[in-house]
Amino acid sequence: MLAHRLIERKRDGGRIEAGEWRALMNAYAASHIPDYQMAALAMAIFIRGLDREETSALTDAMLKSGAVLDFSGLAMPCVDKHSIGGVGDKVSLVLAPLVASCGVAVPMMSGRGLGHTGGTLDKLESIAGFRTDLSLADAKAQVERIGCALIGQTGEIAPADRKLYALRDATATVESIPLISASIMSKKLAEGLTGLVLDVKRGSGAFLPELDRGLDLARTMIELGADRGCPTVALVTAMDRPLGRACGNALEVEESMLALKGDGPPDLMEVTYALGAEMLVLGGVAADIDSARRELEKAIGTGRAAEKMQEIIEAQGGNPGVVEDPAVLPQASHVELCTAPRRGFVARVEPRAIGRGIIALGGGRTKIEDVVDPSVGFVITAKPGDWVEVGEPLATVFAGDRAGVDAGRATLRTAIVIADEADPPLPLVSHRVTQAGVELYQQD
Ligand code: URA
Repeated sequence: MLAHRLIERKRDGGRIEAGEWRALMNAYAASHIPDYQMAALAMAIFIRGLDREETSALTDAMLKSGAVLDFSGLAMPCVDKHSIGGVGDKVSLVLAPLVASCGVAVPMMSGRGLGHTGGTLDKLESIAGFRTDLSLADAKAQVERIGCALIGQTGEIAPADRKLYALRDATATVESIPLISASIMSKKLAEGLTGLVLDVKRGSGAFLPELDRGLDLARTMIELGADRGCPTVALVTAMDRPLGRACGNALEVEESMLALKGDGPPDLMEVTYALGAEMLVLGGVAADIDSARRELEKAIGTGRAAEKMQEIIEAQGGNPGVVEDPAVLPQASHVELCTAPRRGFVARVEPRAIGRGIIALGGGRTKIEDVVDPSVGFVITAKPGDWVEVGEPLATVFAGDRAGVDAGRATLRTAIVIADEADPPLPLVSHRVTQAGVELYQQD
């Protein structure tokens, strides 16, 4: 009866009160409300929206539907990063060990691939033996011991969000600012953080491509964090082209290991340092962004960050040898170079097409039960704005068979556009959003 009444009210543009959200989310987590009613409510929310108080009450209701981590006894500050999702976005794999090696604990909870975007859990699982399904107690013990754990959302954390999120993915109700904000913040606030840094993507490959919507999303999440004593900062970063060169699970792990050893592509490093510097400042181990950045560069230069990654991989059952020798990762049987069909500027490298191309190669899911081939994907060396001559290399396809190579080539023909002119790409990091407002980001 409760669900029916609330669906009706939201459908007609009414409000749902805090007590009602609590009752609803507890009942949903306990499977006392069927998915079809929750799907109807999600669509009503998608269309009608939620005001600030409702978004806050929904966040609390989902947060309190499960367990909350408590790091109050930890000697280190505890800061996490969350990305709204992108293609080639392997920042978490570099950032978590890097920041942990600088004295800030990172209890990083990540997700699987969603839509055209990749997921950190899928990437990590391309490392033989690596376990992402630690219990909360084990994750907490690992963070206390080595300063970092890389885990998935267990059944213990925000179970109402876990169910609702899977439902939204299947009912076209993901791209809603209040639903995204409540979903992300209910999980992140359950981590017991000192601070949180958000990577809000903009551009054609982002879930919310327009800057205005990204800024709204950032502001909503920053307020939710601030209300609950978790200072939150957002950087708006470019997703009008893939980040780095590697796109695909094992390929991205390989690029991340190179990055940890000082050999990462400049765009990946720029975004990683920008987010990492915010984390060190929020954690109180650096006085300002410039000194934080120097500390991060030092951790890469001395090998400290790479060593931390080895420790994390070992602690979670994976083969730590992957840091020194990424050749131990799953390797595609068919590898072919694609070259420029004409001379001109690289006008676009379209992330959505690349993301969908990885799924078509078997490197992502269209259904929850799909098995992912970790070895497939693309390494794209052409960047928007580059000048190329006919026959110059643009990208390499990694596939499991001949048909995969052909499908990969077709993806690249659509995704990489060469033209006589090219508009400048979006700035890599364009805005910084805090409770005080929005500022243009100062690039070096
Ligand atoms: N990531 C989440 O965890 N939730 C959303 O709603 C969208 C992205």
